[in-house]
Amino acid sequence: MLSPEHCGHVIGCSQSGYSSFDDNSSRQVSTEMASSPLTAQASAALTLPQLVSSPLTKAAIFLVVTMNPGDEPRAKVLSLCPDLSALLRAVGFRALDGALSCIMGFGSDAWDRLFGLPRPAELHSFREIRSGPRHAVSTAGDLIFHIRAKRMDLCFELATQIMARLTDAVSTADEVHGFRYFDERDVLGFVDGTENPAGSAATDAVFIGDEDPGFAGGSYVIVQKYLHNLEAWNNLSTEAQEKIIGRSKISDIELDDTVKPTSAHNALTVIEENGRELKIVRDNMTFGYPGRGEFGTYFIGYSRSPRIIEQMLNNMFIGRPPGNYDRILDFSTPVTGSLFFIPTSTFLDGISPDQPALASAAQNLAPISAPAEIAATSTATRDGSLGIGSLKGEDSHE
Ligand code: HEM
Repeated sequence: MLSPEHCGHVIGCSQSGYSSFDDNSSRQVSTEMASSPLTAQASAALTLPQLVSSPLTKAAIFLVVTMNPGDEPRAKVLSLCPDLSALLRAVGFRALDGALSCIMGFGSDAWDRLFGLPRPAELHSFREIRSGPRHAVSTAGDLIFHIRAKRMDLCFELATQIMARLTDAVSTADEVHGFRYFDERDVLGFVDGTENPAGSAATDAVFIGDEDPGFAGGSYVIVQKYLHNLEAWNNLSTEAQEKIIGRSKISDIELDDTVKPTSAHNALTVIEENGRELKIVRDNMTFGYPGRGEFGTYFIGYSRSPRIIEQMLNNMFIGRPPGNYDRILDFSTPVTGSLFFIPTSTFLDGISPDQPALASAAQNLAPISAPAEIAATSTATRDGSLGIGSLKGEDSHE
């Protein structure tokens, strides 16, 4: 087994110079959490999160796999976890300015099979949403590797090395090679990512704190692969497209509320609680195959609670109020949908290939085909709020 020593068990170690892991946002997580007396003990064991809130890159590979049955696949996956940082160093060191990084996440079933209890409080399978012709599908996925770099060759090499380690242990459910389009635009022609939080706001949005101390520094991610009917979209006037997105196409300025419909994408995806906006960190990428007329956006959203993204999805697919849905969905169809927990780097580095699953956590599994209305109500608290505020550590997040 490769050894995870030297750089303090950090994926994308800053000492090797090829990641921004030593950036302010990562430091802030540790500092904020350590400042809370409630989590002092957890913080002592807590070290570094994965590179969730790093800057957007030019290239990315989204690799979602399922684990094959049997003990050997489980052992192979477990043995990769602590070696991932060394693989990353080996590939990244060959092009230090390429900013290679890799985030590894675990689906709900995979978590139970690999680690058992305790489990992250809000980890469950992606809940499908059906509303009229709109369908946010829930598809298989045990592990996700979100590989990012300034260059696709780096992403490609790391994905190849990861898969070489997982031969016969996993089956690929989905693999997307994404790129950043002109001017940071998606393939619909709009600048994508503008309202992403940065710095401490990003840290606050993505990293679990006192609400689940055993998993502080972890995060959740939801991915969906969307295919677009680009011909129909391009037949719309620019003005009609702008009203769907809620921003000007050329300048990327947000439309004024007097002209922006309540169904605009950037109206339905704004979630507020107690007068405070609940943000997520997105890193959407364009992909496609012009030769076969396939054009898509890979949506990826990180959050300290999946409920925030689930609320956004409900608003988009069902509508706010119901029926006032996101018109992007008249031109875009998700063909995948999965939810993963992202543990800290420290957790990954500490995994032993022969560790037993401590206890079964099957009772915590949520049904993946819960009707949207049920899913929507079950994720809200009794006062109708998302309860995110109450999940937050008062010291560090208010
Ligand atoms: C077809 C897939 C999608 C496309 C093409 C798309 C595109 C865009 C664009 C162009 C913007 C405006 C610029 C920006 O602030 O980034 C935006 C904003 C945003 N999108 Fe999406 N998006 C997609 C799916 C989603 C999904 C599935 C979610 C969440 C579940 C989401 C959440 C958001 C949020 C939170 C914002 C920022 C809103 C604001 O604060 O103004 N998007 N998206």
